[in-house]
Amino acid sequence: MKIHHPAEQPQWTEIDTYIETHLLPPDAAFQHVLTRSQQAKLLPIHIAPNQGKLLNLIARFAGVRRILEIGSLAGYSTLWFARALPPDGQIITIEQTPRYVQLTRDNLDAAQLGHLVDIRLGDASDVLQTLIDVHTEPFDLTFIDADKKNCANYLAAAHQLTRVGGLIVCDNVVRHGRLTDPSQTDPDILGIRELFTRLQHTTGLDSTAFQTVGSKGWDGLSVSLVTAPPIST
Ligand code: DHB
Ligand code: MG
Repeated sequence: MKIHHPAEQPQWTEIDTYIETHLLPPDAAFQHVLTRSQQAKLLPIHIAPNQGKLLNLIARFAGVRRILEIGSLAGYSTLWFARALPPDGQIITIEQTPRYVQLTRDNLDAAQLGHLVDIRLGDASDVLQTLIDVHTEPFDLTFIDADKKNCANYLAAAHQLTRVGGLIVCDNVVRHGRLTDPSQTDPDILGIRELFTRLQHTTGLDSTAFQTVGSKGWDGLSVSLVTAPPIST
């Protein structure tokens, strides 16, 4: 999908760089992940550093101990979360590409945090169903950042797996404004609209979403507080 970069993009990137320079000290472990991603020729679609830091602060603010991540890529956001956990914390992160699983494993080990991270290789829908079936201990925070066409299904699973009082965050919910473009029939965009419909109608999720601009262009995040368990069907 070709993205038209607006004239403001250089300024958005410049401001992100300014924020990083002031608030995010150089960190060898994060740099290592980005370097390895580049070497492996992954698209640079990991969350932006300042967004990773926001997720890290939220997790620390809430005293989060168990995190579920859907979509590991090279483990960049995984590392931000791992850095937020207490010594007995755990992240389960789901990734369907074996090469990315290996990268995430290597990157978290290099950051000395591999012991906190359980990487599950497989189709996210299958892995999530397995986690539900085995009554996995509920998560305090779930981050959805995988294929967008299935994000409404991932949300439904996340609702089952995240405790009441926990948080569900979904990345990439605006997609350069394509969210509201009526000519869009891209399955990813349809998936995000389905996510919003589900957020709107699901009892037990109290949600907002917001737009972001920055080094990754124009996009957004949704944030939902789990206020009640899903109504079983
Ligand atoms: C893109 C960005 C993301 O954050 C993501 O999770 C997937 C794709 C993108 O810019 O294409
Ligand atoms: Mg994303």
